[in-house]
Amino acid sequence: MLSTADNELLTKTGAGSPMGELMRRYWIPAVFSGEVEPDGVPHRTRLLGEDLLVMRFTNGEPAVLTPACPHRGASLFFGRNEENGIRCAYHGWKFDAAGFCADMPSEPPESNFKDKVTIKSYRARERNGVIWIYMGHEQADPPPLPNLEWNLVPESHSYLTKRIAQNNYFQTLEGEIDSSHSGFLHQSFTNPFALNWRTAQEMGMVYKMRDRHPRFQVKETDYGVLIGARRNAEEDSYYWRITQFLFPFHTIIPPYGNDPVFSGHAYVPMDDEHVIALCFSYNPVRPLSEEELGYLRHARRDGQEGLHPTVDGFLPPIPNRPEGAWWPKHHIDNDFNVDWRRQKDAQFSGLPGTWVQDSGMQETMGRVANRSIEHLGVSDTGIIRTRRALIKATRLLRDYGIEPDSVWDPDVYRVRSAAVVLPREAEWVEASAEYRETNESVNFAAV
Ligand code: FES
Ligand SMILES: [Fe+2]
Repeated sequence: MLSTADNELLTKTGAGSPMGELMRRYWIPAVFSGEVEPDGVPHRTRLLGEDLLVMRFTNGEPAVLTPACPHRGASLFFGRNEENGIRCAYHGWKFDAAGFCADMPSEPPESNFKDKVTIKSYRARERNGVIWIYMGHEQADPPPLPNLEWNLVPESHSYLTKRIAQNNYFQTLEGEIDSSHSGFLHQSFTNPFALNWRTAQEMGMVYKMRDRHPRFQVKETDYGVLIGARRNAEEDSYYWRITQFLFPFHTIIPPYGNDPVFSGHAYVPMDDEHVIALCFSYNPVRPLSEEELGYLRHARRDGQEGLHPTVDGFLPPIPNRPEGAWWPKHHIDNDFNVDWRRQKDAQFSGLPGTWVQDSGMQETMGRVANRSIEHLGVSDTGIIRTRRALIKATRLLRDYGIEPDSVWDPDVYRVRSAAVVLPREAEWVEASAEYRETNESVNFAAV
């Protein structure tokens, strides 16, 4: 349970809110490179309560501007994207990437009015298929991009999607660091022992099925929080699934197998009631195979979604809506297309696939969950500690102007999640350290 004041600290992300100010110290990944082309149509997004247009100008550089033209407020979405600027369709005022007015053809040529008018702009940087936006103070020097491995590997090594969820970002984030729900919510009644025994064992499924009440241990780190979920493995060993939470909204979930594909999210607040769940899967050392990509794009044959939304998992693009192409077809207003028959005989929930199951729980908690009425158990330890770490960081910034170290040190983000069997007597943080390090053979892109 959380006091109403602490819940507000955690969930309010608009300009001027302590969490919004904390998030504005960090680069925000929101738009994929392929969503904007030189001199092409502006991409609408909304971040931290602000509507934005993301464009690519003639020189290939991304630009981020507020949509309302400073002349009389018409939307620059309809503007002409030409010659390194966007020209308002109403009276032709033109703005560049830094927000300066480059041309004001409706005023007399001798007027210097154009030098007095600017539009709000934000800085953008692009790396390996992702456009990052810095919404910090325009005078401030932005920090380096965080060296998250999913965005350091070449584009051929990763698969990225987005989906919009109609709830506060923190509900979605909490779902990801809550390792105890997967043995229930995501359970299907297919017997894991029917798989090849070794495959099942390598995948840790056997341990997850046998022990459904993991013990949690949590450690605060310089980048966020390390969350270990311990299950009994053999008589002398434990199976540890280790999840990473990285400031301010990144996660990496534990992988399966020996040649792991790592996955996770950036849960970027659009506003307090909508979140962009940017989902990544990547292999650190090799391109994803066609088979892997096929699985990621289409998930399972029986219509079940995976961790990523499938390519046909979206509504037709919705005009005049931020991120209009990424609104999923399973959502709160259609009860997520729950299949009650499947709930009886095929799976625990009847909700059609992994992200739908997560979203079904998270959107139905209300747009912004009321955390003063919840009852947290020991299995919620990871959530409690992550809330605490974020609330502490917002207070330090608000009350003392102290930023987390992770704002300025991009290399604290060079970590992986892990799923390992360790001897029972081992100290888990130390014993799992080598699995959580990003390793040299990864082809790091320079920025
Ligand atoms: S409203 Fe944009 S130029 Fe007039
Ligand atoms: Fe889940």
